[in-house]
Amino acid sequence: MISVRRTIRIPLSETVSRLPQPSPVWLVLMDPKSTAQLELTFACEPVLSHGTFPFDRGRDNALGERTLVSVPPCGSEVLPVTRVRPKLSTDLGLLYETDCFNLFAALKPDSIDCVFADPPFNLGKDYGRGPMKDTLKKHEYLKWSFAWIDECVRVLKPGAALFIYILPQWGYHLASHLDERNMLFRHWIALSMKGTFPRGRKLYPAHYALLYFTKGEPKAFNHVRLPIPACRHCGKDIKDYGGHRKYLNPLGLNLTDFWEDTAPARHQKFKTRWHINELKPMIAERCIQISTVKNEIVCDPFGGGGSTFEAAQRLGRYWVGTEISTGAAIRDRFKRHFPTVRRTLPQHLAAVFKSPDPTFCLSLS
Ligand SMILES: C[S@@+](CC[C@H](N)C(=O)[O-])C[C@H]1O[C@@H](n2cnc3c(N)ncnc32)[C@H](O)[C@@H]1O
Repeated sequence: MISVRRTIRIPLSETVSRLPQPSPVWLVLMDPKSTAQLELTFACEPVLSHGTFPFDRGRDNALGERTLVSVPPCGSEVLPVTRVRPKLSTDLGLLYETDCFNLFAALKPDSIDCVFADPPFNLGKDYGRGPMKDTLKKHEYLKWSFAWIDECVRVLKPGAALFIYILPQWGYHLASHLDERNMLFRHWIALSMKGTFPRGRKLYPAHYALLYFTKGEPKAFNHVRLPIPACRHCGKDIKDYGGHRKYLNPLGLNLTDFWEDTAPARHQKFKTRWHINELKPMIAERCIQISTVKNEIVCDPFGGGGSTFEAAQRLGRYWVGTEISTGAAIRDRFKRHFPTVRRTLPQHLAAVFKSPDPTFCLSLS
């Protein structure tokens, strides 16, 4: 058989209108401006055809044209042999460098125990692909957000948790969309925001929203406790607890839905990628602790500097994620924080990928 290597790109709009009957094909959607190149090697001449479009709810592509690459089966033995490879692999995790929609397209439904998502806020930040990508019209940004949220809902197991770190101005739209998707509201967690200033005729914005929803009744809910706050000078308790101090649980206070100790690292020297809004790993850590147990699987579709992956690795959870620009900061983070971690294949994660999977490889080489 002749092996032909090629990457195919066509505008989605054309594809959907032009293509014939649905057929069982493999398909991949990707942002053509993405740095990630999908390479597929076919054992026969590829023919474009119309597969099941995963975003089938009338959404268009807020981030511009995406590409549908579809490969006809051409006999069952036709498998792509060159695939999207992880850019980091540990005993517990896999990091890809591609659009999150590519990763979602490769994941099975009902396969993930917790998604932690910290998406771009549409504030015109340059995440390595130009600020235009983060300056969408309101309806475009929401459409794009609803599309990736729907994918999160699809890949979550029943009872699994979705956490979205977001500005309140977007949070209420996203929460309402999650409600429409039958996700169960658990909490709107307020995370205190420091160092901001009042803008125009508005109040001083002092919190970020962390939406916490589950796919039906939560399959896990673990109480997280915080140390009883003490004065950093004298070491004594900050509060007197109205004389009930002796009744406090010695393991600490129950976590509330107001987190004051999570302000992001703002100074360059404390950040993995100084220009990126990197979160304290503590935020993802708490979410993972609340909603999963050891060896369960966490997904982060917006890897950034990798704080979620660090948290998952430390807590002994499997993790899978992607970063559209570059995973270099995440690799550096792992080199610094986990110098002894084995760069092995997390076989356990094979279960989350569709089989046969059109695009995603588990191994680095
Ligand atoms: C706010 S940052 C995430 C920071 C991360 N939580 C951390 O603590 O390091 C959002 C990230 O999403 C990435 N991103 C934007 N669009 C994406 C997409 N479609 N697929 C995957 N990653 C994307 C950006 O490049 C950026 O690094």
